[in-house]
Amino acid sequence: MSLTAEEVIRLNKEYTLFEWTAQGNFLPMPIERAKGVYFWTTDGKRYLDFNSQLMSVNIGHGDERVIRAIYEQACKLPYANPYAATEIRGRLGEVLAQITPGNLKKSFFTLGGSEANENAIKIARMVSGKHKIIARYRSYHGATLGSATLTGDPRRWAAEPAISGVVRVHDPYHYRCRWCQHEEACNLNCLNHVEDVIQFEGPHTIAAIIMETITGTNGIIIPPKEYYQGLRQLCDKYGIFLILDEVMCGFGRTGKWFACEHYEIAPDIMTMAKGLTSSYAPLGNCIVSEEIAEYFDDHVLWSGLTYGGHALSCAAALACIQVYQEDNLIERAAEMGKFLAEEEDKLKAKHPCVGEVRHIGLFSIFELVKNPETREPMAPFNAKPEQMKVMNEIRKYLLDNGVFTFFRWNNFFVNPPLCITKEELMEGLQVIDRALEIGDRYVE
Ligand SMILES: Cc1ncc(COP(=O)(O)O)c(C=O)c1O
Repeated sequence: MSLTAEEVIRLNKEYTLFEWTAQGNFLPMPIERAKGVYFWTTDGKRYLDFNSQLMSVNIGHGDERVIRAIYEQACKLPYANPYAATEIRGRLGEVLAQITPGNLKKSFFTLGGSEANENAIKIARMVSGKHKIIARYRSYHGATLGSATLTGDPRRWAAEPAISGVVRVHDPYHYRCRWCQHEEACNLNCLNHVEDVIQFEGPHTIAAIIMETITGTNGIIIPPKEYYQGLRQLCDKYGIFLILDEVMCGFGRTGKWFACEHYEIAPDIMTMAKGLTSSYAPLGNCIVSEEIAEYFDDHVLWSGLTYGGHALSCAAALACIQVYQEDNLIERAAEMGKFLAEEEDKLKAKHPCVGEVRHIGLFSIFELVKNPETREPMAPFNAKPEQMKVMNEIRKYLLDNGVFTFFRWNNFFVNPPLCITKEELMEGLQVIDRALEIGDRYVE
């Protein structure tokens, strides 16, 4: 007999630890099943999944094609050691080389995004013979020691003092930028600042620059095209590898296969996870350019994982990529993204608590403020639980009305599965419209 919702929560809390939270008062949601853009809790309540769980179930829940592919692979060969060649690993590698931009060619498979970034910086260091890595402050690259050090946000602090040689730069965050928030558009001082830092640190010491092409949990920060074109030029000028972390913004999320296509640039190394399998199985990947791959023809690749290229995860990824293609999900995300953007802009115009909405494809955020003039955030950077009162009220309203999404400080996100329809988008946005009235009441 299945457990009740209370029993599921009790067992989880008694025997497992939850991430990024103090455990005592934490109340996890007991999730039982999911289909399309909806999921159901153990006690039978239905939620519209406006965050694709963790910005990751891009194709939507319960797709039989992916489930069947995992099953068929499990029947044949669930696992082979990572030195072995398997059909599924080879096929997936080939497809990834085809859909990624530039001359990205060879994949090094990991279990998730953090490990993909760990390996990206190890590879950049091995090939360049240099040590330092430049990363941004408003960033998240993972929870393991190295990728937590690359991370700029407070999730880094518990890992410190961590790996050496990570240098951070400011972000192209126009809404709160010290250089250009009062100007119409980004004036690219943030890019000039990157060049200053390169020179102060010494280009001969810098192996790579790592950035989330479009920043995820730190605020859907969408730089102008000139930013990345300039950054690519800086990397070429100073002989520094460009690593783009597309763990969250890759696989159609922004309306292109990969977000860097909006900027018409390609990195030397790209990391991916989440949408790679739409989370049907754990898989990350660090894909490297042909030149970097060639270096390892006669140099040892000092890295490896027991579950590298796991057959079940590779089967999930390959089937998932076929779903993106068969259902035209990339084009669909671009088209639905335009609709979502129009509707979100209307909500911004209507509600004074919305300081800014930012959107690209089905990757979007509402940034809430107490005061639209001063832009004082509704909850401060790294807000403590007691500073989240208004945001929690809004979150509760959404949940009470069947809409699940991701909240962080003064932001909440709308990142639904790419298969969502206009009607389903409107279903969630109408609840958000009413929830924002709560925020409006706190505007000074
Ligand atoms: C941009 C980015 N990079 C890396 C990671 C880490 O991935 P994982 O949690 O699979 O290790 C995340 C996770 O949210 C992410 O959003």
